Amino acid sequence: MERVSVIGAGVMGHGIAQLYAMAGFRVGLYDVAEAVLVNAVQRMEESLRDMVDAGWLTSEDATAALARVETTTDLREAVAGSFWVTEVIPEVLELKHNLYAQLEEEVAESCVIASNTSTLPLAQLTARAKRPERFVITHFFNPAQLVPLVEVVRGPETREDVVQQTIAMLRRLGKAPVVLKKDVPGFIANRLQAALVREAFHLLAEGVADAEDIDRALSEGPGFRWAFIGALATADFGGLDTWQRVCTNLFPVLSNAVEPPAWLAEKVAAGMLGAKTGSGIFSYAQGELEERLRVRDAAFLQLLGIKRGIPSPLRGDRGEVTSGDRGSEKA
Ligand SMILES: NC(=O)c1ccc[n+]([C@@H]2O[C@H](COP(=O)([O-])OP(=O)(O)OC[C@H]3O[C@@H](n4cnc5c(N)ncnc54)[C@H](O)[C@@H]3O)[C@@H](O)[C@H]2O)c1
Repeated sequence: MERVSVIGAGVMGHGIAQLYAMAGFRVGLYDVAEAVLVNAVQRMEESLRDMVDAGWLTSEDATAALARVETTTDLREAVAGSFWVTEVIPEVLELKHNLYAQLEEEVAESCVIASNTSTLPLAQLTARAKRPERFVITHFFNPAQLVPLVEVVRGPETREDVVQQTIAMLRRLGKAPVVLKKDVPGFIANRLQAALVREAFHLLAEGVADAEDIDRALSEGPGFRWAFIGALATADFGGLDTWQRVCTNLFPVLSNAVEPPAWLAEKVAAGMLGAKTGSGIFSYAQGELEERLRVRDAAFLQLLGIKRGIPSPLRGDRGEVTSGDRGSEKA
């Protein structure tokens, strides 16, 4: 059985490890902290149970997938025999450089090393690497085991066959890879999201509507469409003459802030960090976060099922949203 490794088992790492295990790989899952590994196994168990409940996997497949994940705090053990390593440690350049130096001592020359970085350019990540040509960025979205998109970013030295192997690997996981032509900060999806969050923060600060209604306007309106078509197809479907008028009338009144709003800094300074501290933009009762995340993940699972079950209107998808099917996520 082919073996891969996931280095870092925090918010993103456990979901990525779960994906590889569901696709039939043995997974060496490493973290510096034993407690993180224990928690990661628990999170994978819960997520697999939800997938069984949703009819995605049999409970035998779920048990077998979990059994393929071998957790360890020994890096050498984690990467022994792996042909693919995904790095999912904190977004600190020095930490990543140190890890890559150790990895390059341990893994085979042919092993691909993929980083889940959200912000660091690959050229910077591989500045000290011996073999930068085998590095690539695979940027998953939280929760990684559910959101189809993975952005693939190559560095100036990444080999073409590594990019092709990466696309094939992500499709094997049932993902929807998007390859960037240029390495830009925030890649594609986070730039689009940040542009939208800036305007949502602006509307909230201006008192245009309550926070709940601003979110509702998005998820019941554009967000409903965006699960299947993007902003550019939306413009084409609506008519470019109409969109020219929309841009002419609205661009001058949209937020063009180049810094986060002052109210955000005030909330952060006051320890109002959102769900994890009990209040942020909204307030959360004890235990509410867990319940909301459970409901969110159940909704995401259903949406994923719908997306996989019907033809996609997106150009280039040839009637399918991802090249994976339900079967490809089974062992
Ligand atoms: N959280 C997100 O939504 C998200 C989304 C996409 C990408 N990312 C990126 O993924 C990476 C990890 O983010 P996260 O949110 O999972 O962070 P996290 O802090 O939840 O997890 C990182 C894990 O790495 C472990 N770790 C620390 N140093 C290590 C080392 N030297 N070797 C091995 N493990 C080590 C930590 O113990 C921790 O469990 C970052 O590059 C981040 O930018 C995060």
